[in-house]
Amino acid sequence: MKIVVLNGSPKGEISVTMQYVAYIRKKFPGHTYEIFNVAQDIRKIEKDTAVWNTIVGSIRSADLVLWAFPLYYLVVCSQYKRFIELIFERKAQDVFAGTYAASLSTSIHFFDQTAHAYIHAVSDDLGMKYLGFYSAEMKDLLSEVEQKRLETFASLLFTAVQETCPVQRENAPLVWPNYTYVPGTEHEPLDTGTKKVVILTDADGNSPNLAAMTDRLLKIFPGPVEMINLHDVNIRGGCLGCCQCGYNNTCVYNDGYTDFFKNRLVPADIIIMAGSVHDRYLSSTWKQFFDRSFFNGHTPGLGGKQIGFVIAGPLHQIPSLKETLVAWADNGGCHAQFVTDEVTDSGELDALLDALAVRLVHCAEAGYIPPRTFYAIGGHKIFRDNIYAGMRFVFQADYRYYQEHGMFDFPQADLKTRLLNAILIPLTKIPGFRKKVFADMKHHMIEPFGPVLRNACPETPD
Ligand SMILES: Cc1cc2nc3c(=O)[nH]c(=O)nc-3n(C[C@H](O)[C@H](O)[C@H](O)COP(=O)(O)O)c2cc1C
Repeated sequence: MKIVVLNGSPKGEISVTMQYVAYIRKKFPGHTYEIFNVAQDIRKIEKDTAVWNTIVGSIRSADLVLWAFPLYYLVVCSQYKRFIELIFERKAQDVFAGTYAASLSTSIHFFDQTAHAYIHAVSDDLGMKYLGFYSAEMKDLLSEVEQKRLETFASLLFTAVQETCPVQRENAPLVWPNYTYVPGTEHEPLDTGTKKVVILTDADGNSPNLAAMTDRLLKIFPGPVEMINLHDVNIRGGCLGCCQCGYNNTCVYNDGYTDFFKNRLVPADIIIMAGSVHDRYLSSTWKQFFDRSFFNGHTPGLGGKQIGFVIAGPLHQIPSLKETLVAWADNGGCHAQFVTDEVTDSGELDALLDALAVRLVHCAEAGYIPPRTFYAIGGHKIFRDNIYAGMRFVFQADYRYYQEHGMFDFPQADLKTRLLNAILIPLTKIPGFRKKVFADMKHHMIEPFGPVLRNACPETPD
């Protein structure tokens, strides 16, 4: 059996993910493996047709394509994303169609599910037969139990391919809105007060609706609005995953990204992020923007901002894309609101964009950031534990930040709860005490709220 591995690590062979591939290779030496470092070599692949043809030629004769990648910002890295875009731009879908596919990732399990959902959907769009994924924590391979699990996964995967297992497509083809948005001329200019607004777009002339949507927003915000096109920012390339920024938040690239981020985005109160759907995500240009913000480590670089996602294309047919954007904002301490062009006519979109602008300003004025959800609470616990322990050496800047901001909030440090547990849990061994406490649990649960409600407005009767 011939297996083509598409390596999605910008680090090429010197990659954690590739250790997992190497392990599978050692355990199943009877197959032929061809590995292409598509993320690392993306520039060559884009420019040199011979390099592209070699990869495509190899995939043509493959029995299985293994998408093997590290997680980057809840999906794959921008370079890998660009490779996927090239497949569609160069109309090479037929090369992949009918071939079995599976995905393998390494990460710290922060939104691994959305990354695999993305690859699954792309595989479906390419007409591949997607057989499932394996999501390893970076260090899993060091444990014998996990080695065995990986071996079993590979064995089952190879058997399914050899037995030509039938596979069902899960992601329906995307249906794009098919009207041209023409913004109306009527609109109420909005008073943004002292709030600074930035519209960040990746418009490249291929999405008239996207350009029209940001035009409308530019007109609604009369105040100090800055429109920045990501194509005009001096960004030399995608994140290399070198982690050198972990020491003091300084990126190895000597380009305009850090300055742009710190001096043009951080001062804003409201950031409109405008982009169009490309395959099952936004463009690789947008992905590059997210990936390069890694110089901030695992700290909220844009914390406290109102984010308006303005998207052209079928966002609501791609739940995992919406999820990654919501989770990115939630995890970064921002407030995200969305408008897309998935409506029936221009008037409806005018109204939605106008309302979005008003809501963004109201929320900015009120300083409103919603309570964090599972995305951010879960993310915080993953990052907190890793930065305190296994990742502390590499991410020393994060460690300092977490310490200064009281983010090492381990429950073991909550002495009051520990003391109460130490006293009350032994008491529940006494049947009479237990019966009384548990019978009245509903009241015990609401007891602490009593004083809060009484003080909320002392004049209002209970
Ligand atoms: C820019 C960047 C973004 C990352 N984003 C995520 C993430 O969203 N979720 C996660 O679990 N791990 C994330 N990671 C951790 C990597 O996925 C992990 O270290 C992986 O094992 C690296 O594999 P590689 O050596 O093959 O590149 C990120 C790492 C980098 C450098």
